[in-house]
Amino acid sequence: MTSIDAIVKQIKQLEPLPQVTNRVMELVQDSRSSMNDLAKIVGFDQALTANILKVCNSAYFGLNKQVESVQQAIVYLGMDQVVDLVLMFGASRNLNAQHKGYDLGAGELWKYSVSSAILARELALKLGADNKQLIFTAALLKDIGKVVLQQFVAESFRDINELVAHQGYSFREAEKEILGIDHAELGGLVAKQWNFSSAMVEIIENHHLSRDVDVPGRDTAIVYLADLICMMMGIGVGSDGLAYRFHKKVVDDLGFSTKDLGEVIAGFGAKYEEVEALVKQS
Ligand SMILES: [Fe+2]
Repeated sequence: MTSIDAIVKQIKQLEPLPQVTNRVMELVQDSRSSMNDLAKIVGFDQALTANILKVCNSAYFGLNKQVESVQQAIVYLGMDQVVDLVLMFGASRNLNAQHKGYDLGAGELWKYSVSSAILARELALKLGADNKQLIFTAALLKDIGKVVLQQFVAESFRDINELVAHQGYSFREAEKEILGIDHAELGGLVAKQWNFSSAMVEIIENHHLSRDVDVPGRDTAIVYLADLICMMMGIGVGSDGLAYRFHKKVVDDLGFSTKDLGEVIAGFGAKYEEVEALVKQS
C-alpha cells in the first residue's frame, strides 16, 4: 500500500519549470505589463531566447529579415504568441514523456494538454473573459499531477480499473480511493510547490469538479468544459478513457450556444496545427 507521503515526495522528481515561466505567468496577470517587460524577462533565459529566435527565423514564417532579438521576435509574433511559446517550452519536458500508468505514449499527454489549452482559451474568448492567458496556462498544466501519479496508477491499475469498470467510480474517484490522492489534487500540490497563483492552484486541483461545490468559478468551469471537449474528440484518451463525470448544470450555466461550441470545435484543428508548427520549429 503506497502512502500519500510517498506519492507527494515524488513531486520533486518532476523537471522544475524554468524560472522564466513563473515570471511570465505573473507578468500576464498584470494589466500594466508591456512588451519591454516581457522581452527583459525572456532575455534572461538564453536557451529560451535561442528557441524563440529559431522559431521566428524558421521557414514557417518566411521573413526576409533575420530576427536577432527578443524585442523583434515579440514584434513579429505578438506578445500572446511569445507568452504561449514560453509556457509551452516550460511545460513540454514533463508532459512530453511517455506516461505508462495512463497508457499514454510519448507526446500524447502533451498533445492533450496543448489541445485543452487552445480550446479553453477559445471558450474564454467567446465569453469575453479578460484572463484568457491564465485559463490557457491552467488548462495546459491541469494534468501535471498525472506525470507524478502515473507510476502509482500503473502499480495499482487492476484495483483502480475494477472500481471504474464494475463499481461506478470515475477514474479520478478510483485514484483517490485506491491511492489516497487523485491526479487533480496532486496537481494542485505541484502548483503550490511551484508557487503558482492561487487562481491557478484552484483551477488545477478542481479541473474535474471534484470538490463538493455546485458552482465552481467560471474559469474552472471553462477548463472543465475544454477537457470534456478534448475527451469527446478522442484526444489524449488513455487508460482513463472517458471515465469522468459529466456535470450538465455547470456546462449549461456557462451559457454557450450550440453555435458557439460548434465554432470553437470547428476552428480547433487549424489552431492546433499552427501551434504544433510553431513548437516543431524550435
Ligand atoms: Fe485530469
